[in-house]
Parts: sequence; structure tokens; C-alpha cells
Amino acid sequence: MNKPLNVWTLKKALSTAEQVGCALGSFSPRYTPMIAAVLRAGEKLQSPLIVQISQRELERYHITPSAFAEEFYRQMHEQRISVPVVLHLDHTKKLEVIREAIAAGFTSVMIDASELPLVENIKTSKAVVDYAHEHGVSVEAELGMIGTTDYVETEKDEELYTDPDEAQRFVNETQTDALAVSVGTAHGVYTVRQPKIDYERLKAIRMRTPVHLVLHGGSGVPSEMMLKAIRLPNGGVSKVNVATDLELALLESLGRSERMTDAECKALSADKLELGRAAVQSVVQDKMINFLDSSNRAAEFFSVVNKDAASK
Ligand code: 13P
Repeated sequence: MNKPLNVWTLKKALSTAEQVGCALGSFSPRYTPMIAAVLRAGEKLQSPLIVQISQRELERYHITPSAFAEEFYRQMHEQRISVPVVLHLDHTKKLEVIREAIAAGFTSVMIDASELPLVENIKTSKAVVDYAHEHGVSVEAELGMIGTTDYVETEKDEELYTDPDEAQRFVNETQTDALAVSVGTAHGVYTVRQPKIDYERLKAIRMRTPVHLVLHGGSGVPSEMMLKAIRLPNGGVSKVNVATDLELALLESLGRSERMTDAECKALSADKLELGRAAVQSVVQDKMINFLDSSNRAAEFFSVVNKDAASK
């Protein structure tokens, strides 16, 4: 498959984000018709972005990695998207799903073996890194466990924060490109639990390893908290995952409280689909402007990459 030149690996996108001094949103449209809305937001604001879907989302909404990738590349082409974009497979445990996604054109994959003991997590993640790197694809792995409020991405609710020394060993031994850390945020809507971020822990992890840090559970976290995590002195978080806020906006715009399958979403009338897309686009734009500081950065991204290429 011929990938457009602005479809980047996660490693390239996050190292550029770090040089430029912003974070990238990793947005899960959950439904394939909403991929268009996420991309449209990035193009409108000239913000680089990541489009993602997890293994559990693929299962829940009845989507295959190739159907998701096909719609992504179709929209990239039809909407003439010009900003840097990464196509990322979020939380995945099954190796066959990772292989399928890589074959379908994903440029980044996440192996989530965080429930395993450290040594096993290292072994499983390293095998994925070796396979993905052979195929020119980046990898995100997870250490420590990120809590959940609605059980869509992970099954357990315990919190186990990432240990900085373990993070250093984990990154050295796996050579993962990005690391999802557990520092207080949780997947889903915050109701009883309140969002918090352990900044000291983020700093301690970053002091021990130059790996790109990923914060999951971006929905419902106040923007000042997020910006502080992104702007930590020696480099903070450079990828923030957001899923729930997008789906809530979509469902609210349709006046429904229950989720759909992807097929049900595709069967909506053109008017309703457009209403939904507008709602999702507006949430994504709000995050890009107020939460990530990534709007109007596309040109800077290209100039950093061109400068790096020229100096080689
Ligand atoms: P939210 O659903 O809380 O935004 O979390 C998304 C996420 O972290 C997916 O990996």
C-alpha cells in the first residue's frame, strides 16, 4: 500500500512533538464514520494528530483493523488531509490483532501486557517491538496499570502506579518507542473518583528514560492539569489518549444514551451523521486548542523534520 507521506510513525510524530513543545492527541472515533470528523478537526486547526482504536473497541463495535484502516486512508485521500497523522492501534493484548493491524497499514501499535509480572511484560512487549520495528512500525507499551471507570479499554479497576526504576529497566530491555504510564488518570468518565496526576512521578520517570510518555484517560481531565503534565521542565507527556469525551458528544448530538454498533452508526441518515461529526469535531478541536497546545503546529512539524533530514 502506498501511504501518504504525511502518515507518520508514532516515534517520528512524538519526537517532533517534543522538539516543538506540545503533545499530540490520540483520538478514538470508536465508529468508522467518525474518523472523518477527527481528521477534519486536525486539518481545520493545522494540528498534527493520532487516530486510534483499541482491540476491545474493535470487538465491541464490530470493526476489523482492515475496515478501520481502509476508512482512515479513504478519508485521508478524500479530505486531502495535509497535517502529520499517525494511525495507531490502542490497547491490544492479542498478537494476531497486532499483526493484522500492521498488515492493514497502522503505523503504530500498542501492546498492553501490563497485567503480567515485569519480566513477562518485558518479554511480551519486546517480541512485539522486534516484529513491529521489522515492519517499520512504532510501539507503545504499558507499565503499571491504568484504572478504568467503564471497562472498555481494560478489565481491572485497581491502580498500580508506574515505578520509575522499573520504567528505566523496561525501556532499556524492550526498546519501546513510547510508554503508557499510570500516574493517576483513569479511562472513562470521572464520577466518584477525581482526576489527578502525580507530576513528581512523571518527572522521576522522565529523568531515568528518554522514552516518550503517554497519558491515558484524557477525557474529563481539566486542561490546566494536562498542560502542566505536558510542559514539565525536562519533557513531560507527549501523547494523550481521548476516547470517552468523543463518544459522549456523538451520542448526545443524536439524543441517545446507548452505544451503537458500527453498522448502526453507518446506517444513520446523512443529516444525523453530519450532526454527529460536527459534535465530535468540536470536542477534538477544543482538546487541540485548550488541552494539548497542538493547533497551528503542522508547519513547525514539517520544518523540524526537514531540518533533521537535511542535517543527516
Ligand atoms: P478516555 O476514554 O478516558 O478518554 O481514555 C481513553 C484512553 O486512554 C484510551 O486508551
